[in-house]
Amino acid sequence: MAAKGAGKGKVTTQTLRERKANGERIAALTAYDHLFASLLDQAGVDVLLVGDSVATVMQGRDTTVPVTMDQMVYHCELVRRGANRALVVGDLPFLSYQVSVTDALRNAGRMLKEGHAEAVKLEGGRAFVPTVEKLVQAGIPVMGHLGLTPQSINQFGTYKTRGTGAAEQATLIDDAKALEQAGAFAIVLEKVPADLGRRMAEATSVPIIGIGAGPHTDGQILVTHDMLGMFTRFRPRFVRRYRELADEIAGAISGYCDDVRNGTFPSSDESY
Ligand code: KIV
Repeated sequence: MAAKGAGKGKVTTQTLRERKANGERIAALTAYDHLFASLLDQAGVDVLLVGDSVATVMQGRDTTVPVTMDQMVYHCELVRRGANRALVVGDLPFLSYQVSVTDALRNAGRMLKEGHAEAVKLEGGRAFVPTVEKLVQAGIPVMGHLGLTPQSINQFGTYKTRGTGAAEQATLIDDAKALEQAGAFAIVLEKVPADLGRRMAEATSVPIIGIGAGPHTDGQILVTHDMLGMFTRFRPRFVRRYRELADEIAGAISGYCDDVRNGTFPSSDESY
């Protein structure tokens, strides 16, 4: 069943701008495969981000740094085939857009041509204005990502809250305005104080989609496997768990193992 307020039509970058203009919030989640994409799409999620978090959630890596462009294209293609209504955004992985604008254009183009994404996301502020401009000119919608930028973990050394001091807050607001000016259609804002989330949403006309950025942003995004309680390796404070599926799955699997071992599966009804 679709969520209340989901709306019926296909979600586009234009829809998201209109949502902000009308004061309607955007519900976004991550997806990495066809099955989850179709479940989330049918339930009324507006934006499916094929996040580079696939590295930590699905590949068992410690950070998002190792995931490759080929792997992201592969996951994007699976998700796109499961999504009829939601906007599908492919995350550009580490070093796929930082080397040169030409490189970024080629890789973002692959995300659309081979992964069938409808937009791409990249991390960073003013330094990436020429890249955002080039992609937008080429017809590739770009979502920015500010605040905590996990691809830079080796530089920062910590996943602590960003934008806690006045200078960093001013930089983040300027970065958001610069991305908007360059043509980004939305910006993910990760792990900043709630008041900064509100100020950044007020300072821009493009939607600010928060993750750990408080209740005043124009939308929210979470990692699906976090909010379903499937990924339990770490639990940021900003994650609300709507289910505890890791426990459910463990219960189901141990029940199956018991039934096989004690001979109660399969029954005569389950046999030919
Ligand atoms: O990769 C990802 O899942 C993300 C979200 C946390 C926004 O970038």
